Amino acid sequence: MMDFRLQVAAPDALANIACDALVLVVGSDAVEDSLDAKIAPLLADALKNEDFQCKPGRSLYLHRPVGLKAARLMIVAAPALTPKAVRGAVASAVAQLKNAKLAHVAVAMSGTVELGEAHAEAFVAGVSEALYTYRHTKPSAPKASPIARATLVCSKAQAKAAQQGLACGQAVAAGVELAREWANRPANHCRPRDLGNEAKRLAKEFKFKVEVLERKAIEALGMGSFLAVTQGSEEPPRFIVMRYEGAGKNAAPIVLVGKGITFDTGGISIKPSAEMDEMKFDMGGAASVLGTMRAVAELKPKVNLVGIIPTCENMPDGRAVKPGDVVTSLSGQTIEILNTDAEGRLILCDALTYAERLKPAAVVDIATLTGACVIALGHHHSGLFSADDPLAADLLAAGQAAQDTCWRMPLDEEYDEALKSNFADMGNVGGRAGGAITAAMFLRKFTAKYRWAHLDIAGTAWKSGAAKGATGRPVPLLTHFVLSQAR
Ligand code: BES
Ligand code: MN
Ligand code: ZN
Repeated sequence: MMDFRLQVAAPDALANIACDALVLVVGSDAVEDSLDAKIAPLLADALKNEDFQCKPGRSLYLHRPVGLKAARLMIVAAPALTPKAVRGAVASAVAQLKNAKLAHVAVAMSGTVELGEAHAEAFVAGVSEALYTYRHTKPSAPKASPIARATLVCSKAQAKAAQQGLACGQAVAAGVELAREWANRPANHCRPRDLGNEAKRLAKEFKFKVEVLERKAIEALGMGSFLAVTQGSEEPPRFIVMRYEGAGKNAAPIVLVGKGITFDTGGISIKPSAEMDEMKFDMGGAASVLGTMRAVAELKPKVNLVGIIPTCENMPDGRAVKPGDVVTSLSGQTIEILNTDAEGRLILCDALTYAERLKPAAVVDIATLTGACVIALGHHHSGLFSADDPLAADLLAAGQAAQDTCWRMPLDEEYDEALKSNFADMGNVGGRAGGAITAAMFLRKFTAKYRWAHLDIAGTAWKSGAAKGATGRPVPLLTHFVLSQAR
């Protein structure tokens, strides 16, 4: 466990900070006069000779700088000194330092910007983002970094807000790490039963309630749509319900529903082979619900929170559901499964109907739902769909506060046309046009009884390419949202 701390020190006294490495995050308005007299000339000289420039991505390493207690000084640029820039700068500095023999990193900022709660949270996020390494199935992965303590340097006036940011940031970072870890595990190491066991383990450690339903109980409930997706798989499904009770028994809960497809082959509507491995990340929504439960249960806000995860595989098989099959969902509405690769909405719709019985204050589902959302928004914002303006506003604000943003997409009745079926109450796919929106319109048909929003995280839950791996998004957004709903 990383030890995050605050240290109150004036900007002109950084030379006295005892640590193994001092990271100085420099804004473009860094005021040299106010900087430590031992550091200011080093920075001035580096700037003059262009060894360092205050541009995104630039940094300068100085070993055993004369006159400093710190054995190492890393100067790193974050021109605007926004929380986002600070997070990136801290992450890149720590990534460069993490394999050296050092235990204690201190981070200070230089610029006219007031260090606040969001900066402290960004500091924690940057450090933990850089220190996470996936090891579960990779024994040759680098050993854990010896960095065990990270200190944020601030002024006395900033300390209170910074302390709050530190506490919130630590819980969020632990939730993000949990979500990254589970999403990164391959489908043979992250099966529905493994997610069920992890939910139970978390419930025990963080003292919340959990129920993990197996196939028989799911059948007894009548989740015909969820069961259709799992029927082609040898791996048994799970339906996970986690309850954190921080407010009175009678307070209506916030409900989070996470898509937990541990592997999506597409089923009989099978996907092409290229990059199909990335469909192990198709439980990213579920992972974000686990991570958010962990973060919230650690922070203990006065709010009730229920996390629901329908989880199974989507496989082709002699018993698999076929295009054209009609199933009856828990809501009683029938669905013509025209494309077995549009399975996420089929497991979510039954979970959303189940959520009615919790008499929720609001329900948010989180899903790696459509490739179309990636085309629409790319990899920066998650897609936000809601017919409820205040709820949408709260989610947008939570994303801003957490540096984990979403972008609102339309959800007009006109898009409903695409889901018409001659053989059932609805089809499970529209056309290619507006694919992320028609998917959300499908879910909307199961959410009429409460306030509801949908987050499509297909573009934000993981990165492809050389740095392939889960991001842990949108745990920061969700945690901030839940906190904002506490009394
Ligand atoms: N899990 C996928 C969505 C996805 C695909 C996310 C690629 C990220 C990258 C989902 O189950 C799916 O297959 N959706 C289909 C829907 C289509 C059949 C209407 C898609 O997006 O192609
Ligand atoms: Mn699919
Ligand atoms: Zn899927």
